[in-house]
Amino acid sequence: MNLRIDIITLFPSLVEGHFQTAIMERSRKRGFLSMKVHNLRSFTLDRYRTVDDYPFGGGPGMVLKPEPVFRAVRFIRGYTGSQGRVVITSAQGKLLKQSLVEDLAHSGHLILVCGRYQGIDERVIDMCDAEEISIGDYVLSGGELPALVIAESVVRCIPGVLGDEESARIDSFQRGILGFPQYTRPREFREKAVPEVLLSGHEARIKEWREQQALEKTRSNRPDLLHVAKGFPE
Ligand SMILES: C[S@@+](CC[C@H](N)C(=O)[O-])C[C@H]1O[C@@H](n2cnc3c(N)ncnc32)[C@H](O)[C@@H]1O
Repeated sequence: MNLRIDIITLFPSLVEGHFQTAIMERSRKRGFLSMKVHNLRSFTLDRYRTVDDYPFGGGPGMVLKPEPVFRAVRFIRGYTGSQGRVVITSAQGKLLKQSLVEDLAHSGHLILVCGRYQGIDERVIDMCDAEEISIGDYVLSGGELPALVIAESVVRCIPGVLGDEESARIDSFQRGILGFPQYTRPREFREKAVPEVLLSGHEARIKEWREQQALEKTRSNRPDLLHVAKGFPE
């Protein structure tokens, strides 16, 4: 599986730093991923490189104009020769969940658009055949962090990226519930010992304990998941 991600932003440096993280670098070097950041301002045509304007109907703040976003998407489609799946980061979007992440990972080409100010002119959604995605029920000041959240979660789904496929299998949400708690050395820290079963070397017992802990944690922190997850007692 191979993925291309283009990110359109007013703040390229906010995004580019993240490309140097181990997982992104490794994915690129192994040929699983290519990524490019585009400065939205490069797609303006006026001498002031204007990207925003006042909202029709009044109200506070500014809105990102449709033309630069549309031109940026058209440019990317033109030079890659691919329509791409256009995602506009927005608190008004569909909530990002692991199932959606996996779906995005199979898209082959993602074009992520970072909003700012009061958001992007709504007409861009239809014009670019885009979908809006939210990373949670809270409001951030820009779409750069959401775009990186989307990019990193998607890249983790590409087979071979993690090196150790087992590590993805045991992650939270892979089976619809949370992952199990982890411990490392020292065996005892401030009089708190690591659960004995983990030191037993008994594979079956460890597996059973982890399963039970994952369920307990889900029941306590995210009982909502148990309504949806199949095959787990609520
Ligand atoms: C201040 S927010 C705009 C909020 C917008 N007026 C609203 O009511 O939904 C500016 C930008 O941050 C990004 N953003 C903020 N919260 C987000 C979230 N939860 N998920 C995804 N993107 C978000 C979007 O790109 C948005 O256009």
